[in-house]
Amino acid sequence: MNLRPTRLALINVLVTAAGLSVFGCGPIPGRPGPGPQVARPEQVLEFAVLYQTNCSACHGDNGKNGAAIALANPVYLAVIGEGDLREITSKGVGGKLMPAFARSAGGTLTDQQISILAHGMMLQWSKPALLSTPGTPTYRASVPGDAERGEQAFRVFCASCHGAHGEGMTATINGKRTKVGSIVDESYLALVSDQALRSFIIAGVPGGVMPDWRADAALPMTDQQITDVVAWLAAKRTADPGQPYAVHP
Ligand code: HEC
Ligand code: HEC
Repeated sequence: MNLRPTRLALINVLVTAAGLSVFGCGPIPGRPGPGPQVARPEQVLEFAVLYQTNCSACHGDNGKNGAAIALANPVYLAVIGEGDLREITSKGVGGKLMPAFARSAGGTLTDQQISILAHGMMLQWSKPALLSTPGTPTYRASVPGDAERGEQAFRVFCASCHGAHGEGMTATINGKRTKVGSIVDESYLALVSDQALRSFIIAGVPGGVMPDWRADAALPMTDQQITDVVAWLAAKRTADPGQPYAVHP
């Protein structure tokens, strides 16, 4: 072989270039990349990850079947709307088990992350058709409730599953014998806010467990009836919930 020096130089350059393209640009094994290995908390901007890490423990995987109210419920989302979702996620529910998540309120999430959560829930779990159902109650109560009228409404709309006085019973729901716990238990009432009771009555429990406010299509509950039932339940709260003694010893 009789290669001229310029040829040799050219081959040299090509081989080096090929070598660099294979080995030159990738990270050297064992040396850390430019950014942190694990994203900083505020850099997590995916709805699914944010929901799973912050909310699913109480509100359930995929927004259902948790100890706290189902968020993946189109009826609920239609009533609460994105603004109040964002607001409650930011500030929590004072005195109850729902923590505040916004950094401005002592939580761990940025406003951007809270917007992603609220928007993601609406995007993934709401049904736009429900947003305009006529007669839909407002999320928050707008008129005072009346406990006496509430008791009557409770008999009509709730007693068949919850017992005449809310004490619980074994009810037949969708053909299945179902044990329903007390909703007038003093410890339960101490744990939930009036708004939580209202939200349950409006939105029901998805999966055929408890109907929403349109309970009976021929006769949906009115906003006033919902407010009255909450007033009746709220009137059963006691000053010393969970106290074994009738009076302080
Ligand atoms: C430690 C348990 C817990 C965690 C974690 C939690 N929640 Fe809650 N959440 C609750 C409870 C309990 C309530 C009902 C509080 C009350 O009595 O009003 C609630 C209420 C809510 C409500 C209002 C419900 C209503 O009654 O209308 C929204 C909205 C909500 N949570 C969203 C979220 C989101 C979004 C996350 C995650 C960023 C989250 N929650 C994380 C326990 C939790
Ligand atoms: C068709 C049966 C049915 C009817 C009607 C019904 N519920 Fe329920 N409700 C249930 C079941 C089942 C549960 C789940 C309770 C359980 O697991 O113990 C439930 C749960 C609840 C809860 C507790 C949710 C929680 O997890 O904290 C409240 C509050 C409640 N119902 C209020 C009412 C009120 C008020 C009415 C009437 C406006 C009503 N329900 C009508 C079946 C019903």
